[in-house]
Amino acid sequence: MTDAPPAAARTSPATARNRQPILEVLAPRLASGARVLEVASGAGEHAVFLAAALPGVTWQPTDRDDEALASIAAWREADGSPNLAPPLRLDAADLATWPAGPFEAVVCINMVHISPWAASEGLMAGAGRVLTAGGRLFLYGPYLEAEVETAASNLAFDASLKGRDPAWGLRGLADVKALAAAHGLAFAGRIAMPANNLVVVFDKA
Ligand SMILES: C[S@@+](CC[C@H](N)C(=O)[O-])C[C@H]1O[C@@H](n2cnc3c(N)ncnc32)[C@H](O)[C@@H]1O
Repeated sequence: MTDAPPAAARTSPATARNRQPILEVLAPRLASGARVLEVASGAGEHAVFLAAALPGVTWQPTDRDDEALASIAAWREADGSPNLAPPLRLDAADLATWPAGPFEAVVCINMVHISPWAASEGLMAGAGRVLTAGGRLFLYGPYLEAEVETAASNLAFDASLKGRDPAWGLRGLADVKALAAAHGLAFAGRIAMPANNLVVVFDKA
């Protein structure tokens, strides 16, 4: 990868910390030939890193925002591997913007808590529609769990998110599971990640 970000490319210190642990979860769970749709790719650094590390899959980055799309395109031009597709505009909450697919996997990193609940509703409806039978949805981020004490850092993060936008905030995993189930996505497991994050996996029947 290049040392300095190319023009228009944005960078996030969190990505440098979480991309390797995310790769280690995804690598054994994505079959060679899998088509992956990433929702809310943001700066695009995950897309560039994960596509390069998983050359057997095709990676479709997307986002809703122009700046993010420009950043993804800039990273792709500077560092993109052949299996990384040009970014598409996708608003999770607007099913008309979703590609037809099909995809063997949908990946969504750090969007569910940094968007209104309508984005999660759209994410589940869209994933339920574009995933193949047996396809998987992977969510990464912090969640509230009834049976797990919420880390103080996550409570503070939740308060700061709600301060920025009252419609944002950490979601209860039970609510996310119920929403997924309503769209034919069965909870398949939670994987504890560094810094009190989770990867949550759903399978389409
Ligand atoms: C905190 S950033 C995470 C970006 C990236 N996945 C990461 O982990 O660095 C949240 C992203 O969600 C995107 N987003 C918010 N609402 C969205 C929606 N309804 N549809 C698609 N993307 C959305 C924002 O544009 C932003 O890029």
